[in-house]
Amino acid sequence: MTDYMPVGAGEGEYLSDTSHNKIKAALASLRGTVATKQQGLGAHVDEAIGCVQSELDLVLSEHAGMADDLLRAYEQLGIVFEVTSRLSSADDPEDVVRLFVESLSITYQDMELFSAESADNDALVWAPRLPEGAAHYAAIVHACVESRRAVVEKFETPTFGIAEIMAAPVFAGDEFVCAIVFANSGKARRFDASDMSLIDALVSVCGDLLRNYQLAASLRAFSMDTVKALVSAVDQKDQYTSGHSNRVGRYAKLLAAEIGMTGHRLQMLEWAALLHDVGKIGIRDDVLKKPGKLTDEEFEHIKEHPVRSYDVVKEIPQMSEALGGVRHHHEKYNGKGYPDGLAGEDIPLDARIILVADVFDALTTTRSYRKSFSFDKALAIIAEEAGTVGDPKLVPIFERVIRREVAARRIQISPWTGPNGSSPGDCEEAGS
Ligand SMILES: [Fe+2]
Repeated sequence: MTDYMPVGAGEGEYLSDTSHNKIKAALASLRGTVATKQQGLGAHVDEAIGCVQSELDLVLSEHAGMADDLLRAYEQLGIVFEVTSRLSSADDPEDVVRLFVESLSITYQDMELFSAESADNDALVWAPRLPEGAAHYAAIVHACVESRRAVVEKFETPTFGIAEIMAAPVFAGDEFVCAIVFANSGKARRFDASDMSLIDALVSVCGDLLRNYQLAASLRAFSMDTVKALVSAVDQKDQYTSGHSNRVGRYAKLLAAEIGMTGHRLQMLEWAALLHDVGKIGIRDDVLKKPGKLTDEEFEHIKEHPVRSYDVVKEIPQMSEALGGVRHHHEKYNGKGYPDGLAGEDIPLDARIILVADVFDALTTTRSYRKSFSFDKALAIIAEEAGTVGDPKLVPIFERVIRREVAARRIQISPWTGPNGSSPGDCEEAGS
């Protein structure tokens, strides 16, 4: 741990200040002068000088201890700052652990550092490699996990060049994540109580951060499940569209990931795809479930649903980035869609992605007004309409990814023949 030492502040400089040396020299000179010129007073003055000398040594010694403590605290503060700064850039729990181990490795570069995770069979999985004398290391890992704090083991005779080992456990709540193990040769320094306190504080910060990720993930999953239940309820207004929104969410996410969308951006796209038809809750059942051709008035009514969906979603501030995908999922690439008649790349990317996914699901499922198309026929229709309905850049990518997922059996397209095996009429319009 050689970082964080103030420049020019080695131990020697704290112990022997120039002014103290001058005082010592002056006392020695005084003693010599008295001894030669004031023979009668010599013993008394000599005693007085001795007292001053002792006091001075005591003060110097106390100052030296304070300086060492101050230096150590300063160094530890630097370590805490360095490690926590690095952790703040983590994207996910795996990243937290990786950055934590990495930052400790940099900070404690005069030692060997290992991390140990528990495998399913309770064996320890070591990184970056299995330490020599792994049994010693395993024992100290188990001890630190048991006590939930840093533990140090010192060897009377260095083993494999190691004089002492310190291990500290990272817990996310009650869940053991990993142990951080420091192997110290003892050549540069030895562990003391302050090392244990520091590493206990650091693993605690790391564990709290991991726990926050777990809670956030749990909250996200809960929100997603709630929304899926909500859209499922909306889909069931019409038996023919049961499961539509969840499937569109899945297809849209696949396409978006294929073009490189990740993280929060991908999450917003998924929300938009799940909620794109939520406004159908305000569409009259007799229009939504009508088996035959819609009148102009009925079609105008059903065309209200993207804006109705938009009005629902805009009430949720956290979903503001999903609004474009929701509102514009029926905009055609040629500008003849609705509600705003946007064309080409003026249509938000999320909406163009959702449209392709939406049309594909509509074509591969039976609707009240027509039977489902086969998988290949549906893809052929989407390809024919590329540039008119769908984005011509996205359509071939969608075909590639959906064929790949079906071939790998990660997605199953099984056309549903409608409630009670009904046989609806011809196709009116793809998408929903
Ligand atoms: Fe729709």
